[in-house]
Amino acid sequence: MGNVAVVGSQWGDEGKGKVVDVYGESADLIIRFQGGNNAGHTIVVNEEKIVLHLIPAAALHDNKTCIIGNGVVVDPEVLLREINQLQEKGYLQSSSLLVSDRAHVIMPYHKQLDKLRESNTSATFIGTTGRGIGPAYSDKVGRRGIRMADLLRPDYLEKRLEEVLPEKNCILQSYFNAPPLEACGLMDQLLTLAERLKDRIVDTQPLIHNALKEGKKVMYEGAQGVLLDIDHGTYPYVTSSNTITGAALSGAGVGPNDVDQVIGITKVYTTRVGEGPFPTELENETGALIRKVGGEFGATTGRKRRCGWLDLVALKHAKRVAGFTGLALTKIDVLSVVDDIKICTAYELNDEQIDYVPSTPEDYERVKPIYKTFVSWDEKLPKVKSKKDLPAALQEYIKFIETELEVPAVLLSVGPDRNDTIVIHNPFN
Ligand code: GDP
Ligand code: IMO
Ligand code: MG
Repeated sequence: MGNVAVVGSQWGDEGKGKVVDVYGESADLIIRFQGGNNAGHTIVVNEEKIVLHLIPAAALHDNKTCIIGNGVVVDPEVLLREINQLQEKGYLQSSSLLVSDRAHVIMPYHKQLDKLRESNTSATFIGTTGRGIGPAYSDKVGRRGIRMADLLRPDYLEKRLEEVLPEKNCILQSYFNAPPLEACGLMDQLLTLAERLKDRIVDTQPLIHNALKEGKKVMYEGAQGVLLDIDHGTYPYVTSSNTITGAALSGAGVGPNDVDQVIGITKVYTTRVGEGPFPTELENETGALIRKVGGEFGATTGRKRRCGWLDLVALKHAKRVAGFTGLALTKIDVLSVVDDIKICTAYELNDEQIDYVPSTPEDYERVKPIYKTFVSWDEKLPKVKSKKDLPAALQEYIKFIETELEVPAVLLSVGPDRNDTIVIHNPFN
């Protein structure tokens, strides 16, 4: 019982959208707490696929309150598009959607700078989503950000833009040889968007705290994954926010006692989009097969996801910094097509065995994975609803992960659809 945080345990795309949708049915209030529309969270209901970038993935259920928390960076255009998309499909009728007035805005110049920095051949190429995430978070921390609240205060917004734009224009013109931006054009653009969003922009604090006080069931939805965390991920090949459970507290505005359980969403193999170390990557036919069967193409950018074996060293690191109390194991069905399944149990670095994630990309690129091999389960996974009906070899594979991580599996996902799920434990019941 209690309030539940859902956190990606790898490099993102673990199936958070699906799990938030499944558990979200039992929640009252769902809060996205960090990231922006770099995220792509997929939900499949009756073969219809919906990808959400900003709106909490429980929004497809009736009678929910969905909040985009203060820790999120919001592109207002993307948000409006997503609201329309859901409304056109008949969603968001009885469920409400609100945005924290403390959330920061992704401005047009953030997107421009993200792309320009990535195309700069003398800088480290990260392979970002190009959605302006890094520049928006940099301005937030640098106290140069525009917040959702500012969209409702035209005089203040204008003053802020006048403060911020000269510096942006200097970088755009002098460093990137790009044309400057004008405050009045930006003002018009922002105020038009603000007019359409104004009823949804509120101080979400009273609402969240009243819900907690009344014993409502609160769910915190993370984006990306622990290995992309700005502090605990594979820096600099990371996203620009904290993705761990701690970010649920700051990004929703609650205390540690307001999170009771933490579900680590874990794909039973590993994928990564963008650059950076990936010790268990399979640059061979097996990797290509997993990509094909798992449909491993980015939900946001459509890029090919790099695929590889499950990595217990990276997962144990994720468990330590995010404090998982339960694991949701996803995409189990995909491994059915592979003959021998491997799990990385340790790394070798400089001829020594290590069981931690090195802090520099130079060392992390050099580690060699040490594997344990499992026989695959030949059977195609039937539409089972119980863990005990799963093939014995698969049960053994799951047991090994649970034992190594010392965390129980609370949900098993055996297909993309909402119904292809074995719920072992619902943390809200
Ligand atoms: P998220 O970012 O963590 O929400 O994950 P994404 O939505 O980006 O990527 C997960 C992909 O796998 C989506 O296409 C899902 O529909 C799909 N998916 C989720 N769970 C399963 C599963 O158990 N089996 C299969 N085959 N696909 C799944
Ligand atoms: P979800 O929530 C996978 C990756 C990008 C890039 C790095 C930095 O769907 O799991 P950014 O645009 O954030 O500055 O890019 O982070 N990345 C993701 N990879 N899933 C995501 O989100 C991601 N969001 C960002 O590919 O390597
Ligand atoms: Mg995704």
